[in-house]
Amino acid sequence: MTVSDFRPVSESDEPPPFYRAVGGEVDVFRAAARRGSPILLKGPTGCGKTRFVEAMAYELGRELITVAGHEDMTSADLVGRFLLKGGETVWVDGPLTRAVREGAICYLDEIVEARQDTTVVIHPLADHRRELPIDRLGTTLAAAPGFQLVISYNPGYQSILKNLKESTRQRFVAISLDFPAPAVETEVVAREAGIDAATAESLVVLGNAIRNLDGSALNEVASTRMLILAGGLVAEGLPLRAAVQAAVVEVLSDDPEVVRGLGELVDAVLPRQ
Ligand SMILES: Nc1ncnc2c1ncn2[C@@H]1O[C@H](COP(=O)(O)OP(=O)(O)OP(=O)(O)O)[C@@H](O)[C@H]1O
Ligand SMILES: [Mg+2]
Repeated sequence: MTVSDFRPVSESDEPPPFYRAVGGEVDVFRAAARRGSPILLKGPTGCGKTRFVEAMAYELGRELITVAGHEDMTSADLVGRFLLKGGETVWVDGPLTRAVREGAICYLDEIVEARQDTTVVIHPLADHRRELPIDRLGTTLAAAPGFQLVISYNPGYQSILKNLKESTRQRFVAISLDFPAPAVETEVVAREAGIDAATAESLVVLGNAIRNLDGSALNEVASTRMLILAGGLVAEGLPLRAAVQAAVVEVLSDDPEVVRGLGELVDAVLPRQ
């Protein structure tokens, strides 16, 4: 489990996280935040879910506590546990408990990977009760103002129905993110990779060509993140074709046939150098 903190605007000199909206997601997040409603973010890998939550936490001036879910995660990883420290047994809050106490945004990334007996702890936090029962302490904590639950998943390869009860799911406000429109994605790729707009545009045109492949043998399509990685190699001096081979083609598949087919697509789509 990894836990990272994002410091709120008031305590940090860091510039705001750069995020370009792809639709109405910012307004939905703001409204849900005012109500303390939990948010379910869905979208393919590398489309900007994490960056979006970072940007919203910054805008709202709330601490962001991120937890990466995995199948071995237990509820103690979220809530906390007793640990031996210098011969004494002390209780140590888990990240969810800390967020509940501090009124932070708790971002449970890929929480659906976890088993249902783990995710069950978020159920009473996801409705009007806004409370966290801590069985091992024999207490129930009321969530501090500002506490907000955000969970994310990738509908392409995860089934949230598996691990979240429908009654819980219906307490969430769902926001669906996708790759931005070409003009916006070009701006994002140019800025994040540090390359000119024309090169970024070529990468975005290629990305969309891959996304539009019919009956494709790919598990995932080329994400914004992937295009930024390719752009980063160009910024480091690699020719565009070589950068795309390394950051896109070889990453998307191990199948020699598919790799060759993608290479042909790249040759057809990228400008001649
Ligand atoms: N709309 C956007 N505005 C600004 N940057 C973006 C946007 N979309 C994607 N990015 C860039 O793409 C990168 C990947 O996005 P991010 O890590 O947020 O994806 P994700 O949806 O959380 O992926 P995963 O599901 O794999 O965790 C970010 O680091 C950022 O550079
Ligand atoms: Mg993410």
